Amino acid sequence: MPPHQPGAQRRHLTGPGLARAALSRICRYGWASDWGDNLFIGTVLEFGVLNGSYLKGFGEHFRWKPVFWGFDSFVGLPAEAEGQPRPLAWSPGSLSSVGSGPAASEDKHAAVARAVERVHASITEGFPERKVHLVPGMYSESLTPQLAARILRTSGPASFIDIDSDLYISARQALDWVFEHGLARVGTVIRYDDWWTLACATRNPRNRNYHRDAASIESYGGEPLAHEEVAHRHGVTFACACGPCDAESGGPMSRYFATGHVGFNPFFRVAKLSAPPGNTGFAANGTMVGRFLDRMPVCRNYRSRGSFALSSHSNTAHV
Ligand SMILES: C[S@@+](CC[C@H](N)C(=O)[O-])C[C@H]1O[C@@H](n2cnc3c(N)ncnc32)[C@H](O)[C@@H]1O
Repeated sequence: MPPHQPGAQRRHLTGPGLARAALSRICRYGWASDWGDNLFIGTVLEFGVLNGSYLKGFGEHFRWKPVFWGFDSFVGLPAEAEGQPRPLAWSPGSLSSVGSGPAASEDKHAAVARAVERVHASITEGFPERKVHLVPGMYSESLTPQLAARILRTSGPASFIDIDSDLYISARQALDWVFEHGLARVGTVIRYDDWWTLACATRNPRNRNYHRDAASIESYGGEPLAHEEVAHRHGVTFACACGPCDAESGGPMSRYFATGHVGFNPFFRVAKLSAPPGNTGFAANGTMVGRFLDRMPVCRNYRSRGSFALSSHSNTAHV
């Protein structure tokens, strides 16, 4: 999602601002020593660039030490996987960086090339030392083994991965690629921008059919479902690094979690690799999830908006 509403931002940091603030202030500290001063160097992968505002924000918060790789079709969202719910706002082609776009495919290529150039310039203008690579294309085509090998060879495995590509199918393709090709290592931190969006939207009166009591977070679909499937498929053990993914009973995080003062975006750390069956690191039960949905102020934003009416029809499997 694009940055949240200004009112919500005043009280709850979101996006890149939260990344640095959260990692330095509200995360558990034990794991930070794995990276030490290297936490913000290495490689950052941004899935979902649009006009580059988050990428630029992360760059500034990480003092432009890492090499940034941004992946986007630049022509908007693909179709969601068949049967998976999505808000009406996330229709195929929405969130395009090139506007409505020309019909002819040569023109489309040129429009994408111009968009990539514009976004790259807006991030690096006046600062040629910023290391930013933008990779255009739908993930089903652009995330190749060759590209993974190039990233590993030139900038190394990711220290930080931001998933802001909205859909289940996109998070699933991005994460499968990351874990299949060794782009994450123990200590890599993954932030999810829309972890809660679908679940929050079920509190919208238009979405009564999707409302469930005490349901697990992945049962709502979207990023949590992709995360769970990838953890099990690739044998990844994640740990909640910070944000609303931890419900340790009696610990300070559970208090924040329960009252919604821990921000909107969970950050997971890769704790172990190649240890099937894996673990999502999401420790909240359905009751805590429900409490978060009812109380979290950012979550309330999704309740009334018509564009967050959910649909699981008219998706095509082709992406
Ligand atoms: C919410 S926007 C990203 C916002 C961005 N992080 C920012 O700073 O404002 C989601 C982006 O993900 C891209 N996207 C989603 N799924 C994709 C896929 N499967 N392949 C390529 N791009 C995808 C869309 O084109 C869109 O630009």
